[in-house]
Amino acid sequence: NNYANITAIGGFVPKGRRTNEDLATICDTSDEWITKRTGIKERRILDEGLATSDMAVEAIINLFDNYNKDLSKVDALIVATSTPDMLMPATANIVCEKLKINNVWAFDLNAACSGFLYALNVASGLIESGRYKNVLVVGADNISAFVDIHDRSTNILFGDGAAAVLLEPNEEFGVMDSLLKSNGEGREFLNIEGGGSLFPASLDTLDKHYIKQDGKIVFKKAVTAMSETCLELLEKNNLKTDDVKWLVPHQANKRIIDAVGNAIKIEDHKTMVNIEEYGNTIAATIPLCMWENVSKFKKGDFILLTAFGAGFSWGASLIKW
Ligand code: ACO
Repeated sequence: NNYANITAIGGFVPKGRRTNEDLATICDTSDEWITKRTGIKERRILDEGLATSDMAVEAIINLFDNYNKDLSKVDALIVATSTPDMLMPATANIVCEKLKINNVWAFDLNAACSGFLYALNVASGLIESGRYKNVLVVGADNISAFVDIHDRSTNILFGDGAAAVLLEPNEEFGVMDSLLKSNGEGREFLNIEGGGSLFPASLDTLDKHYIKQDGKIVFKKAVTAMSETCLELLEKNNLKTDDVKWLVPHQANKRIIDAVGNAIKIEDHKTMVNIEEYGNTIAATIPLCMWENVSKFKKGDFILLTAFGAGFSWGASLIKW
């Protein structure tokens, strides 16, 4: 068996901060409301003129700066993003150009907030096939470029960031199993409609270039989908919640994280949370959280990852560290 083992991890968040107090000067909200309802205090915002690929590149550079690994050995690169630099070419191609690597099979994968888990699973399959030995998976989103700064139903939640993992084959440890799911039910409840072939560029569709959502519906679906999938995945692998050393959930809302934790009955101290500082960075939340906490992972730990996002798309992955 060739398991896909995470052997290195890197991350990047922009320096620019947007605090709850900043938002309270722009629209009718308050630090108290946002903190209580979401657990978020501030988000990082990428400078104008930069884009998703710039953050992905920084995360990859951070990875290779901190681990004794060789960028020239990378044979596949997947960028999980729903905020690509442009519709085409893929952001992964632009990342290759900026890193000066070529001959890499590089492509984007869009599964919104579940993008990292989807990409991790695709990359694991490449490793398990025996045909790829060094696969980079990046979760990167410059979602602030699609947030209407005056819309308090979205501006409070989202921030920018990127993180990257390197996968290599290992006989014993790695990405053990995943359950990934999707339906089209979420299309009307969470989307960025404009810029695609349905609503191409036009003066009438400017408003459609912003992210929109029905927060209440997304909230409920997110809790049910993530907790059910986590339990299903554990059962499939003959594990119990108590066997899990760390839960790394998508960081969308602290109340969603708490509700999932309660539903699967995991002890609070096992759940990794960094939403207070970064908000929801879409495909970057899970790898960013892993990057910040990587020193806590010990050999043999079972780590459960779970995500939910636009589509709807959702899932869970189980890693033996
Ligand atoms: N500031 C101040 N007051 C607000 C704000 C705000 N930003 N937003 C809503 N309110 C008010 C409402 O007007 C309402 O007032 P009322 O009681 O007088 O009518 C009250 O606060 C409650 O509003 P709700 O919409 O019921 O607030 P809720 O508790 O549902 O929180 C939120 C809204 C934070 C958007 C929540 O629904 C949420 O996080 N949903 C999940 C969305 C999400 O995570 N999407 C991301 C992508 S998918 C994913 O990553 C899981």
